[in-house]
Amino acid sequence: MSVMNKRQIIEYLSAPDAAALFARADAVRQQCCGDEIYLRGIIEVSNDCRRDCCYCGLRRSNTALPRYRLTPEEIVAAAELAARLGYGSVVIQSGESSGYECAQMCRIIRAIKEKTGLAVTLSLGECAADEYRQFRESGADRYLLKIETTNRQLFRALKPDSSWENRRRCLEELRCLGYQLGSGIMVGLPGQTLADIAADLLQLQAWELDMIGIGPFIPHPDTPLAGAAPGSAELAVRAVALMRILCPYAHLPATTALGSIDPQGRQKALCAGANVLMPNVTPQSYRSLYAIYPHKVCIDETTDACAGYTHALSASLGRRISNGPGHSLRPAR
Ligand code: 5AD
Repeated sequence: MSVMNKRQIIEYLSAPDAAALFARADAVRQQCCGDEIYLRGIIEVSNDCRRDCCYCGLRRSNTALPRYRLTPEEIVAAAELAARLGYGSVVIQSGESSGYECAQMCRIIRAIKEKTGLAVTLSLGECAADEYRQFRESGADRYLLKIETTNRQLFRALKPDSSWENRRRCLEELRCLGYQLGSGIMVGLPGQTLADIAADLLQLQAWELDMIGIGPFIPHPDTPLAGAAPGSAELAVRAVALMRILCPYAHLPATTALGSIDPQGRQKALCAGANVLMPNVTPQSYRSLYAIYPHKVCIDETTDACAGYTHALSASLGRRISNGPGHSLRPAR
């Protein structure tokens, strides 16, 4: 199945020049996904989190951060705004254990489906299998759960109170429930090698995912990794390009993290295999509080400005914005 082995991937990640890699990835994207850019409006519903991940500004030890939780009405209103802006899907994202009861989240999902018909992606972290089932029965179409790194040792060091095996099990349960499934990694984590990234890409390929998000690590000042070096945008774009070649039909976002570390980051990714953008539709007053990492783009922009930017960006690349749901492009398994 693999069109590349680990050694070849490492060579591409470390080669002096990646122009040929980017061109090949762009051609695969065009052939297998077309020229449309799919939009997912992201609603950051709560920054509450029970976890203490060393890289993330939302970690529970970060007591400097005021916590918030949108009301169900605010969430549904944000989804309606996304629909009005022509976005075909929304992502409901929060820290883990955001404080919503399962039944409440189910009501929110049903309300969004009834009022907008948008495709709904959940990104709420590790939950009980029964909760995943109830969310699915309420109409959720997709679930996004990033593995962050497939190196178990690195995972343990960075996510001291999480279990890699449990996260992996969650992905399996979600797949069995019929969700379109997304995962992903960070690139440039402290202690992460090119061999680690190559192994990550091959593992993500083996999981036959519908969507894969890859972004650079960005150190947050209120975390134990404040002094660590950031990941490089170039390396992250190379990882996206390699992912496209390994997974021709996966949806690959040009991530917000990439746009935050390099003003041209998202453009570069869209020209090297990416086919998705995730404009922010979180109500303005909460945005600065969803500070996973510093200097996040879209914090000071209005939702309309994010929409305008998204259209200008795609037009500048000669690409079309899709107003459809952007369901999985993978041929039936
Ligand atoms: N730098 C870059 N990305 C981060 N994420 C969390 N913290 C950071 C950081 N410091 C990413 C993770 C997470 C997603 C919501 O944001 O991949 O899954």
